[in-house]
Amino acid sequence: MRLDLRHPARKPLVAPSILSADFARLADDCRGVLEAGADLLHVDVMDGHFVPNLTFGPALVECLRRALPEAFLDVHVMVTDPGQYVKAFAKAGANHLTFHIEPVLDPRAGTGKSPLSQGYDPRRLADEVRATGMTVGLAINPPTPVEAVLDLVTEFDLILVMSVNPGFGGQAFIASVLDKVRAIRARLRPSQRLEMDGGIGLDTASDARVAGCDVLVAGSAVFGAPRDRWRDVIQGLRG
Ligand code: DX5
Ligand code: ZN
Repeated sequence: MRLDLRHPARKPLVAPSILSADFARLADDCRGVLEAGADLLHVDVMDGHFVPNLTFGPALVECLRRALPEAFLDVHVMVTDPGQYVKAFAKAGANHLTFHIEPVLDPRAGTGKSPLSQGYDPRRLADEVRATGMTVGLAINPPTPVEAVLDLVTEFDLILVMSVNPGFGGQAFIASVLDKVRAIRARLRPSQRLEMDGGIGLDTASDARVAGCDVLVAGSAVFGAPRDRWRDVIQGLRG
């Protein structure tokens, strides 16, 4: 039965980020981590503008959906104008879409001077995502104060707290974000998930779990390990 992020899981969910997979054997790598016990696939979409890296878009999600009909695709959009892509990712077969709070905080948003010329209301965008049938998440970067999202967290199925500055895999865990995790966890209902994203490995996963995260993204910790270690790493991250 397909995963639904609105239903609390007994154990933390592990979401390998495909950013650290071998793009030349992507379906094979994704099948491998799912068979090794991963709960969902984390798909890091980057536009080279909101973050200094460029990755992939809806076409890749469509191919993954065709290759892995049962996989839960957790799309994390690190783009300046997420509203522009919601329908395309839903059509491609994404199950969930998380967008960032930072474009909202951009003073140019809605003034016609930023790429977000149509303005950007996170509640409206959340409704748009849900209207496609996807669940919806809100992400916050390490430098952004938790106050920027605290009054919004009840509107989302998942809150993603970045524990690295977005753009690349393999970066070091920023432990100071755990204070935000605790503050957000205190406001969430059992039907909402708290995802930690960046620098999660066997040495940092327990801090994230203890602070209140129940979805753990791990790119390099999983795909950087030998294939025959994937099951042990995934189980180790889950605790
Ligand atoms: C970074 C991405 C993360 C990253 C995680 O911008 O959002 O999902 O791929 O990779 P690791 O686990 O290697 O930090
Ligand atoms: Zn991510």
